[in-house]
Order: sequence, then C-alpha cells, then structure tokens
Amino acid sequence: MREPVDLTGRVGHSKGLRGDYSRMRADYTVDQDYATYTEVHQRTWRQLYARQRELVPGRACAAYLKALDVLETLDYGRAIPRFDDVNTKLREATRWELAPVPGLLPDDVFFAHLAQRRFPTTVWIREPEEFDYIVEPDVFHDFFGHVPMIFDPQIADYLQAYGEGGLKAARLGGLKYLARLYWYTIEFGLVREGGEPRAYGAGILSSPAELRHAVEAEGSHRVAFDLIRAMQTRYLIDDFQKTYFVIDSFAQLFEETAPDFSLLYRALERLPELEADAHLPTDRDAGR
Ligand code: PHE
Ligand code: FE
Repeated sequence: MREPVDLTGRVGHSKGLRGDYSRMRADYTVDQDYATYTEVHQRTWRQLYARQRELVPGRACAAYLKALDVLETLDYGRAIPRFDDVNTKLREATRWELAPVPGLLPDDVFFAHLAQRRFPTTVWIREPEEFDYIVEPDVFHDFFGHVPMIFDPQIADYLQAYGEGGLKAARLGGLKYLARLYWYTIEFGLVREGGEPRAYGAGILSSPAELRHAVEAEGSHRVAFDLIRAMQTRYLIDDFQKTYFVIDSFAQLFEETAPDFSLLYRALERLPELEADAHLPTDRDAGR
C-alpha cells in the first residue's frame, strides 16, 4: 500500500507508524537484520504465502506469475526473503533493487528512491492476530505484492517515471492526483489478458479476499483505464475498492502517463472529485 503520509508527529509516537525508525540512515533505509525474525514470524510468512500462492494462478497477470517462478528458485515460499538474494535477481532482470525501510516514508523520500530504481520495501511482518488485516504495508505485502511486478521491464520503467513525476508533482501541487494514479495502478490495477481481467496491483495480489473480488466478482465495477478519470477518483483505504481500472497492456500505462502533467494538474483543479463508487455514463465497462 502507499498512503500519502505525513510522518511529522507520527514517527516514534505511540499512535505513530509501527516500524522502528530509530536506526535508519538519512535516506530512511535500514538493515534487514534477519536474526530478529522469530519462528512465529517465519510461520506467518509461510502461511500467508501458501494461502495466496494457491489463488494467484488464473487471477494474477502473466508477468507476475513468471516472476514468481524466478523468485521461487530462492525458496521464496519457505522463509521471509533476504534482500540480498532478491536483489541479485532483480538487478539482472530490470536493474532495480529493493531498499529495506522501516515502513511508510515521506513522499519526497519515497519518490527519490523510485526515481533511482530502488523500491522501498518494509522489513517487519504482521503479528498472528493481524493475519488477515493490516493497516500499513508489511514485508508480505511488499514481497508478495510488489516485488514480482518489478521484474517486468515496463512496470519497472513506469515506477521510475512515477518517482520522477512525484518529485515534480510536489512542486506543482499535483500530489493528490498522483497518489490516486498510484493507488489505481500499482496498488489496485487490473490488466486485460486474453479478454479477461487479471491483477497486477499489489494491494489485490497480497489480499486473498480482494483478489477474488477484484478479478471475478459480479458486482465489481471494472472500467477501462482513463487517466483523468482515475486521477479524479477518491479511494477507500479500509475496504475493497469500489472501482478498478483495467489497462490493455503495461505499454499503454507507460505511454498514457508519459506526457507532461503540468497542465493536467491545473485542469484537474477545475474538474469535480469523483466518489470511490461513482458510475459515469462515459465509463467503458471492462467486463469480466
Ligand atoms: N509524465 C508525468 C509528468 O510529467 C510523470 C509521470 C510518469 C507520472 C509516470 C506518473 C507516472 O509529470
Ligand atoms: Fe503497496
């Protein structure tokens, strides 16, 4: 997940973010410190992995499943992955690497990492009592949901462009719109493959219930991707999404987001905000 986050007053406070931000470097990275994972943590990983691994065939996009095969040569399902091992594979595939971080980051730090082809990846794992639901992203969400998609060359380039675009949007007052784009693509995006919707968004891929809901539920509102429509649309952070945007290909996503957004941000200021569950006459149904 990626929430627009204001860390002021949150880091290190009782109501703050749950990661340990006390030992990070200036760029917010930490050491994974593998020895701190307990047997309970490892069991949580294996159980989350096994449950989700069964669900992805036929629901995740082809690029995702292909990368998972590569990652499984590292025994991905058996223990919490080690950053160094994954980074070796990822560098070969797309020249990306994962940067271990305590949790959510301030926008500018997050964007700067992406712009340098580094994906900030959370080190902690949920406790057994939060097995089904966490508020902040943990190591399972990041490694199971995001990492396989970064093996895809087009998604890899899109994420870098997004990071560069984020630094620019911060200067132009466009962060709200850009956050929605991230949400509706990298977190909750669907892609059409062989006429059927398949998940490429990490929030879907790492959630057993939402994976089924997003890809196959009758009532889910799946619409053809429209850049401006997505940027106008609010999103829910504590429920299944009400609207999913379906792209035809990762090339389409890259190309439609490549133009300069400066004027677009100004135009969006004058367009209405859309509710998460809005249905518009202009929505092109992306079907099942
Ligand atoms: N093209 C956008 C801009 O000029 C940057 C961007 C690229 C944003 C890809 C999101 C995704 O601002
Ligand atoms: Fe995420």
